[in-house]
Amino acid sequence: MDATTVTVTGAGGQIGYSLLFRIASGDMLGADRPVRLRLLEIPQGLKGAEGAALELQDCAFPLLAGVEITDDARVAFDGANLALLVGARPRTAGMERADLLAANAGIFGPQGAALNDVAADDIRVAVVGNPANTNALIAAASAPDIPGDRFAALTRLDHDRAVAQLAAALDVPVAHLRGVVVWGNHSATQFPDVAHATVDGRPVLDALADRLGGADAATTWLDEEFVPRVAKRGAEIIAVRGSSSAASAANAAISHVRDLVHRTGDAWTSAAVLSHGEYGVPDGLYSSAPVSSDGTGYRIVEGLELDDRGRARLDASVAELVAERDAVHALGVI
Ligand code: NAD
Ligand code: LMR
Repeated sequence: MDATTVTVTGAGGQIGYSLLFRIASGDMLGADRPVRLRLLEIPQGLKGAEGAALELQDCAFPLLAGVEITDDARVAFDGANLALLVGARPRTAGMERADLLAANAGIFGPQGAALNDVAADDIRVAVVGNPANTNALIAAASAPDIPGDRFAALTRLDHDRAVAQLAAALDVPVAHLRGVVVWGNHSATQFPDVAHATVDGRPVLDALADRLGGADAATTWLDEEFVPRVAKRGAEIIAVRGSSSAASAANAAISHVRDLVHRTGDAWTSAAVLSHGEYGVPDGLYSSAPVSSDGTGYRIVEGLELDDRGRARLDASVAELVAERDAVHALGVI
């Protein structure tokens, strides 16, 4: 089988250090798919990428067909089948949201343009670097020849966090849960939704009511503990660990691509994909939704009911995405 070319940007950083070894071992694409890695870094990050490449060699991964390191996006994306856009400009003290968007537009705009020019025809792009949804929007807008549905931003980490919190609350293995959805932005406004979730085939809402002493107690727990815990988990990790989630983010990126390529079956997961107006989300935004894949790409699972409270939460997160998009437009970036 020909090797799949996988480009990882920000490969010398924290997430890169967890991600590269999982890709090279076959966790992402499968034990029968050789991979060729391309590592894109900025000049000051090249040493980190070079160090990771030395360690990749020392692992003697049978599936690893080669590793190239570059600081040139056109070299990194040349012939790429998959691109994981991890490298981003972090928010630093005193930086306004508009400054952050402008700095990242300066990264994701040129990377989108390079993907447009040199990536393989079947390119698929997963954006991890924050603000991930709007970075996906910028990259896609800068790649007019690549269909917008080939881009997605990662909300799989939020999805997995929601599943893990529910499993702990219900004292069940995570594998017994299905049907969780994360809606909206990969930010504190996101809405982790359990209205359609089941545990061993039974509605999670019923199981929570039994465990917590009634439907009202379950609603209180969801509103006051579950939703904020999941939505602010990134900040909690930063506070405890001193830097943002890395191994769990890499794991989520692996799961995102693996399920895209190997199909979700009749289950769904969450990803921020291009909106065509589903669930009232404006066209053109990258907003998290329930998605399934038949192996050719993620598509939004339609037809789920959102009650008034869920609708209000999704609307608030979408309003934030609209404001980010408008700020990027005002900068004249796209
Ligand atoms: P990091 O700072 O450890 O690494 C980022 C790397 O990107 C650095 O090595 C840096 O040199 C590189 N880089 C910066 N600009 C680049 C460019 N233009 N081209 C190529 N490389 C570039 O950060 P990290 O912990 O690896 O996190 C990376 C990003 O992922 C951050 O934006 C973080 O907020 C985000 N993140 C997203 C999620 C999610 O679920 N979507 C979860 C965790 C972290
Ligand atoms: C996460 O969800 O862990 C990160 O996106 C948090 C962050 O702000 O880097």
